[in-house]
Amino acid sequence: MRLARLRTSCFLAVFLGFFCSPARAAEGSKEDPNWWRHAVIYEIYPRSFGDSNGDGIGDLNGITQHLDYLKGLAVEAVWLTPFYPSPQVDFGYDISNYEAIDPQYGTMADFDRLVAEAKKRGIRIINDMVLNHTSDQDPWFKESESSRTNPKADWYVWRDGKPDGQPPNNWISIFGHSAWQYEDSRKQFYYHEFYKEQPDLNWRNNDVRKAMYDTLRFWMKKGVSGFRLDAITMLFEDADLRDEPYAEGQNAYGDRNTTRQFTDNLPEVHDVLKQLHEVTDEFPGRILIGETYLHTAEDLAKMYGAKNDELQLPMDTQLGFLNKLSAPDFRSMLTDAETKLNGNTPLFVFENHDNKRLVDRYGDGVHNDAIARLLATLLLTPRDAALIYEGQELGVANVDPKRVEDVKDPIGRLGWPKEKGRDGERLPMPWNGDTDAGFSTAKATWLPVSPDYKTVNVATESGDPNSLLNYYKTLIKLRKQDVQLREGEFVGVDTENPNVLSFLRKTKDAKAVLVSLNLSASAQELKFDLKAAGVQGRHLKKLLASASDINPSDVDHVSLPPYGSYVGHVQP
Ligand code: NOJ
Repeated sequence: MRLARLRTSCFLAVFLGFFCSPARAAEGSKEDPNWWRHAVIYEIYPRSFGDSNGDGIGDLNGITQHLDYLKGLAVEAVWLTPFYPSPQVDFGYDISNYEAIDPQYGTMADFDRLVAEAKKRGIRIINDMVLNHTSDQDPWFKESESSRTNPKADWYVWRDGKPDGQPPNNWISIFGHSAWQYEDSRKQFYYHEFYKEQPDLNWRNNDVRKAMYDTLRFWMKKGVSGFRLDAITMLFEDADLRDEPYAEGQNAYGDRNTTRQFTDNLPEVHDVLKQLHEVTDEFPGRILIGETYLHTAEDLAKMYGAKNDELQLPMDTQLGFLNKLSAPDFRSMLTDAETKLNGNTPLFVFENHDNKRLVDRYGDGVHNDAIARLLATLLLTPRDAALIYEGQELGVANVDPKRVEDVKDPIGRLGWPKEKGRDGERLPMPWNGDTDAGFSTAKATWLPVSPDYKTVNVATESGDPNSLLNYYKTLIKLRKQDVQLREGEFVGVDTENPNVLSFLRKTKDAKAVLVSLNLSASAQELKFDLKAAGVQGRHLKKLLASASDINPSDVDHVSLPPYGSYVGHVQP
């Protein structure tokens, strides 16, 4: 599955609020409510990050053991993909108990310790929250499927089939084939956007909303700083069950493609987002991040809410999943993010556990290291919040299974060989060159470690000042410490250049940092006239470049090698 590709769209008064809320009283009000605006958020796939008990599967204590690494990287928060009890059909995205820990990942005491130890290091924990669907093993579903009259009969999307016994309509699951599953006990079909083991909840039912909102409160009381909302645009389906129009071609599973106009991004989502925002507002500094694969800045802008009362950080996946190095396209997307989001912060994402690693999507096999630095610079120097997926900072590449019998992700078995599943981007984190790459001590890890782990690993790259890891560390440090990179507005320069993307980060005092990224395979000579941008200086002082010999002295003589990146202060 490539989600990005598949989705066609893929307080009575302040006083009372303050004094009445136990959470506020318990936690005090020291949290900077805007901490997320420039944040670097690090995604952890717990199954593949650190294995503390040697069973070959990562766990919560394994994350706690590696917190100092994350502190060294200086990330503000980590997003943990689901660790709740689950049959693991979709490796945790099929939750069977929303307020507990799956024993294979540890205990609630382990989770509390992780939150406390992370806090000591200035790192916040963001939980993944799957609101669109539960596991078919969740007691809610068990009750709902038992009859048409039980108290939770309407908690999921149940419909009668057609008179000939066929499913209610032509809707296709993102994971292949009909999105409807027949259930004999009710003699009805239920709707599942993903696997049949992941029945969709009925968000038109207010009891579902209340129950889920209480779950969010449960975790916020435990100290989590917010939620990454899974598949959030998909909460609602057309109430009239209209057939989706067919689109061109077939998916990897052999189904005719359809649009997703009746199953994705329906207007009702915004009512829920507002309510979720109110719930998280009961606790200071909590945020909502959305999994929002949207194709235009206009659609993305709506996710923040007309009164900024919905998501703080809907993911902007346009840049990260463009999958081609194009200066004009990146420029227009960055400009849109600056001008069309009503001043809100974009959250740029280049990698996650559902999509091929960026080296595999943007690399040319010759300049992969330079390209990885270029994209790191593109991610970390604009005015944005930035998401980094574990291993991205090391330059980890995909390693897809070679044989169908080795595939763990069910869609990889169903769609083989067109769709090999997501195992390739979920390999264990390479910590060092020892057994199991330092991830585990097990004889066999749940997915194999990457064949290049002896060179691409945290220990080796930490010791090499020129490594990609140290490049990321420097960029993250710069974006915190340099006033222009932290607070400056984004101003495009040399905007007609087809090969090189250049922009300033300029503060009100007209001081600026110049960022210049050569997105082509040939060397480029550049000359900048910055007067129109209100910047007088001509000299350049390097902050960082992708190669040591990139060190222009002034704005009239900037030379960049193929895929070279430069970041420097403009000075008088
Ligand atoms: C998006 C998650 O990132 C993905 O891993 C999961 O399979 C689907 N949502 C279904 O929950």
